[in-house]
Amino acid sequence: APVALITGASSGIGAAVATRFAAEGGWQLLLNGRDQERLDRIADHCGATALPCDLSDPAGCGQLVERALDVAGGVDVLVAGAGIGWAGPFMAMPPAAIDEVLAVDLAAVMHLTRRVLPDIVRRDRGHLLFVGSIAGAVGVREEAVYSAAKAAVAAFAESLRYELAGSRVRVSVVVPGAVNTPFFTRRGAPYQRSRPRPIAPARVADAVWDAVAHERSEVFVPGWLQLPARFKGLAPALFRRLATRF
Ligand code: NAI
Repeated sequence: APVALITGASSGIGAAVATRFAAEGGWQLLLNGRDQERLDRIADHCGATALPCDLSDPAGCGQLVERALDVAGGVDVLVAGAGIGWAGPFMAMPPAAIDEVLAVDLAAVMHLTRRVLPDIVRRDRGHLLFVGSIAGAVGVREEAVYSAAKAAVAAFAESLRYELAGSRVRVSVVVPGAVNTPFFTRRGAPYQRSRPRPIAPARVADAVWDAVAHERSEVFVPGWLQLPARFKGLAPALFRRLATRF
């Protein structure tokens, strides 16, 4: 069976992606998350193997891929879904929080890719899929570092596509608007009021599945209604243009 390694699988979008792959059937699923108890529950539900570890540390990323290769002998699909945010004015952001957001949202994507890619390239078949964010495409108020990390993930994917052109290795980014997960609900009422219609994680999971099944390089999951007011005028046209590219 093809093997999918899914990070961020103990919650929100990653858990929905794991559930979607399990429902499709025929996959060996390896799930990563930070909180072991929740991860075990979701792994049980999906008939998957739980491989918990902390991805904010490059060594953790390396260990995860090593364990995945040990358990399954190879990884056909990597879904990098783990992510954290820090919402608030940039001037108030503790320096350590800058490092943590960059570590989980950007560096971990690169470290996981770096570790898994040699195996994928050797077999000349595989799919790297990163969960980006509309924040990376437009920049979102009070999410400066998060937005920058997500923009960098999209550029990273684009660059890898050049390197891997001509191979059968695919690199995709799924780009959702605000999604109804603990990541979103933790942010509090004023934030949520400006984004009144969060997207269901299952819709993002559908987009991830679609990207893998149909080898799409970029899939937008538009949720423009919940973007900050200043984007509202721009967003419908922007999203229509982007979403109809595929
Ligand atoms: P969530 O908070 O529900 O889940 C985050 C997941 O990442 C959890 O499984 C957690 O264990 C894992 N994680 C966090 N830090 C980790 C670490 N140091 N090591 C290992 N795992 C770690 O969040 P959600 O909403 O499901 O987010 C998933 C992805 O979707 C993230 O990359 C996020 O940036 C992105 N996204 C979320 C949006 C939203 O509005 N919820 C919108 C657009 C993108």
